[in-house]
Amino acid sequence: MQIENCIALVTGANGGLGQYYVEALRSQGAAKIYACARNPDSLANLVAKDPSKIIPITLEITDEQSVKQAVSLCQDITLLINNAGVGFNQGLIAATDLSKARMEIEVNYLGTLIVCRAFAPVLKQNQGGAIINMVSMVARVNLPFNGSYSASKAATLSLTQGVRAELASQGTLVIAVLPATIDIGMGKSYPEPKVSPEEVVREALQAVVDGVEDVYPGEQAKQMAAQLLKDPKSLEKIVAMMLPTSTP
Ligand SMILES: NC(=O)c1ccc[n+]([C@@H]2O[C@H](COP(=O)([O-])OP(=O)(O)OC[C@H]3O[C@@H](n4cnc5c(N)ncnc54)[C@H](OP(=O)(O)O)[C@@H]3O)[C@@H](O)[C@H]2O)c1
Repeated sequence: MQIENCIALVTGANGGLGQYYVEALRSQGAAKIYACARNPDSLANLVAKDPSKIIPITLEITDEQSVKQAVSLCQDITLLINNAGVGFNQGLIAATDLSKARMEIEVNYLGTLIVCRAFAPVLKQNQGGAIINMVSMVARVNLPFNGSYSASKAATLSLTQGVRAELASQGTLVIAVLPATIDIGMGKSYPEPKVSPEEVVREALQAVVDGVEDVYPGEQAKQMAAQLLKDPKSLEKIVAMMLPTSTP
């Protein structure tokens, strides 16, 4: 599949990485990009870059009615980019209650699942196409100071594998993107090293062209993925030192 002339939908398009996805799709020649946000006013600057190609859509991914409405407006997509997500930098034990952990599961896992289920028939009718799910390296090794987010992204990785298996027969390529820290959005306050948002979207879109299922954008994620193959326990022990500040 090529990016040129594809019709893409990006969730969380007003967010840090979402804007880079829209921009990269446009510069690589996508025919149309549905830019989705909970508040469409937040998309004004992005849409103004190319109103003939960038179409704003209101979308709350945890609300099945909102997703249904988006499906009815976007019947021609060939590339679905599940980019929307939340993370609250909370420990599993240190968190004062479960409200944020529930929200991470609600958005990162259930919201992504709702969108995949709703758009699977659309992709089928459009010759299969592709889905990119924004996962994270912390899906593979829990980062304790963001422990509940890590667990929610592990669920997102598992759903990506299951959706991939179920949609293989309709020819839909399902891609997991697993970066470490990105220098944008929720990664802004994190320490170096970081991968640039341009590099993340470049590698993710290239995976669509090359038919690659699992993408580790940037040096840090590639090194961690290699370490997980060689000695997963040693990586778990290193990452385990990054504890939440209020751990008992
Ligand atoms: N930045 C990193 O270091 C990093 C690393 C690995 C993976 N990721 C993943 O990459 C993706 C993008 O992250 P980012 O850094 O760009 O984060 P961000 O700047 O916080 O953007 C998140 C986007 O998701 C949207 N969103 C949140 N909840 C939603 C919901 N219920 N329905 C619809 N949209 C919703 C937000 O919309 P609102 O403006 O309405 O809140 C925002 O547009 C996320 O899935 C994240 O987990 C990020």
